[in-house]
Amino acid sequence: MARILITSAIPYINGIKHLGNLVGSQLPADLFARYKRGRGDEVMFICATDEHGTPAELAAAKAGKPVAEYCAEMHGVQAEIAKGFRLSFDHFGRSSSERNHLLTQHFAGKLAENGLIREVSEKMIYSIDDGRFLPDRYVEGTCPNCGYDSARGDQCDNCTKQLDPTDLINPHSTISGSTNLELRETKHLYLMQRALKDKIEAWIDSKTDWPLLTTSIAKKWLNDGDGLQDRGITRDLHWGIPVKKGDQPWPGMEGKVFYVWFDAPIEYIAGTAEWADANGKHDADWQRWWRTDKGASDVTYFQFMGKDNVPFHTLSFPATILGSGEPWKMVDYLKSFNYLNYDGGQFSTSRGRGVFMDQALSILPSDYWRWWLLSHAPESSDAEFTWENFQASVNKDLADVLGNFVSRVTKFAKSKLGEAVPEGGTFGPQEEALIADLTTRIRDYETFMNQIEVRKAAAELRAIWVIGNEYLQSAAPWSAIKTDPARAEAMIRLSLNLIRIYAILSRPFIPDAAQTMMDAMGSSDWTWPEDVPAAIAALAPGHAFSVPENLFRKITDEERADWQQRFAGTRA
Ligand code: 2FM
Ligand code: ZN
Repeated sequence: MARILITSAIPYINGIKHLGNLVGSQLPADLFARYKRGRGDEVMFICATDEHGTPAELAAAKAGKPVAEYCAEMHGVQAEIAKGFRLSFDHFGRSSSERNHLLTQHFAGKLAENGLIREVSEKMIYSIDDGRFLPDRYVEGTCPNCGYDSARGDQCDNCTKQLDPTDLINPHSTISGSTNLELRETKHLYLMQRALKDKIEAWIDSKTDWPLLTTSIAKKWLNDGDGLQDRGITRDLHWGIPVKKGDQPWPGMEGKVFYVWFDAPIEYIAGTAEWADANGKHDADWQRWWRTDKGASDVTYFQFMGKDNVPFHTLSFPATILGSGEPWKMVDYLKSFNYLNYDGGQFSTSRGRGVFMDQALSILPSDYWRWWLLSHAPESSDAEFTWENFQASVNKDLADVLGNFVSRVTKFAKSKLGEAVPEGGTFGPQEEALIADLTTRIRDYETFMNQIEVRKAAAELRAIWVIGNEYLQSAAPWSAIKTDPARAEAMIRLSLNLIRIYAILSRPFIPDAAQTMMDAMGSSDWTWPEDVPAAIAALAPGHAFSVPENLFRKITDEERADWQQRFAGTRA
């Protein structure tokens, strides 16, 4: 049994995420976690809310709430919606947890001990009208790299370049809009990433199997000359993890907190410790996932994220880990995604454009969204959500192909042969051919899932569903029953077993429909079909089944038009 550690980029606390966020990290991570569990591996799947930094403070201010209260509330909201989408985290933590405070301060202490932190007195942007420093997202302006006019002080959304507020051209305060800004002296800590460049480069070079998107972004920022500058890891903010050296105070840094991007990835580790705390486990139980000196050397670690997060996970976080000099588990495979666009433009949280996770669930159950999003995952390029495409995929793939197969087989079986697996007849050349074809396709499906080729896996799964329909069409049990009833019984026996196999194979994509199929087959045997001939005989003659409710309904043209219009504007 392999041990698989999976983390999804942790979503910012500031509000409900849109479908583009979902498909770029949490959803494919969930797909993979479910698949690995289905194969019998031991999985630890961690996500959390990213609660510090300017996004949290700005959103709390907008909501008129104290930031701690706002975060606690929004964590609950996000956790509930994650459940709605059936995201199967082993733990959904909080980067503001006590565990993350301690671990973040621990890492900072180790980095300081190893001479990798320097204190810098520097001039930062101070807003005279707001009476405060303006770190990160408190300031926006024009990107010096690509000219995008709404670049934020920490990163340009357009070209993904990591920025400092002072890099921006024509900066303004996002609190007041004021351009009455000046540079004021303040002291901060810098992580000396440059000193770690060789180590980081060697580590990246050793990852020869990473997706091109991941490696190209990593290499770009590593070699771009200014790609691996020393990074400020502290901020003049109130909300965050107080700057300390391990458990000791850090003279001169009183009242300052760590930068959100310093503590956020550490939450992957802290979140696993939170899992242990929440489940009455011991430190050893989470450390066996993260400390190579405590059992984690046989763990394979997968990260999932959108492309804008790649520099932080290939450069900054590895710098923290490598710089600590301690035996922490580092990522083995980093799966990154391009962007999903919405109906001719971008999804946008700040502008409220697109479909948000809560809205999606209010119109259709999660399986519909999971299937569309995963089968159209933005892997090799950006992808686009359109309502036409969504309607077509749902109606064809889910309703016509899978749903129709399940309903035809079970209804026919019940009306002609009763509610138990029939025993007559034997398998002939048609069934042999189906089993051979199915075996090949399942092996291909496994290959794509193992490689986290999400779209290809979805296409293969769909092809596996098609096999059932084609078989039914050519075998035609409704004719056979009149001339050779035993043959018809063999056909239905195979088809009912196929439904159980579909439940197992489809579960990572559409877990609710999978459960319905399994329940209808009166089984709870989720054993992966390694041996297809054995799996196709798992439901023995006489085994009771039932006719499930329609698995999927079709989206009508009226609904499509209505939703298209409802979601055309922006959300308040
Ligand atoms: O881009 C984002 O939504 C960030 N909150 C992701 C953080 S991932 C990690 F570092 F934890
Ligand atoms: Zn830019």
